[in-house]
Amino acid sequence: MRQFFRAAVGTVVCTLGLSLAAQAQTAPPAGRLLASNCFQCHGTNGKGPGFDKLAGKSSSEIYKDLKEFATGKEGDGIMAKHAMGFTDAQLLSLSSWLSTQR
Ligand code: HEC
Repeated sequence: MRQFFRAAVGTVVCTLGLSLAAQAQTAPPAGRLLASNCFQCHGTNGKGPGFDKLAGKSSSEIYKDLKEFATGKEGDGIMAKHAMGFTDAQLLSLSSWLSTQR
């Protein structure tokens, strides 16, 4: 029984280690991961369709817009709800990644 547990724990530890290693190699930039929340409306890579295009804007422009949404200055629409869900560091990370999209 003890051997079985050792083997089972060993397998779990190994699998965890392997999946962490795999994640470390393939993990996208933090801003890109966060921006997957934005894709449905702003398109993958911030290029539309339909809603405002985000690609081509500077990081500070996007950050300023997001802060205005997050602080309620732009009303309480869809974007306010979205922006309020992120920490300041996440908004910076999002802005910086989106600004790399041309
Ligand atoms: C459910 C749809 C939806 C999602 C999801 C969404 N947005 Fe928006 N976004 C909008 C709409 C609608 C507007 C226009 C709102 C307005 O002008 O009041 C907008 C506007 C913006 C603007 C201002 C653009 C400009 O030119 O003024 C920014 C920046 C922005 N969104 C960033 C994001 C980011 C970053 C995310 C992901 C965290 C996101 N949005 C997710 C619908 C969405």
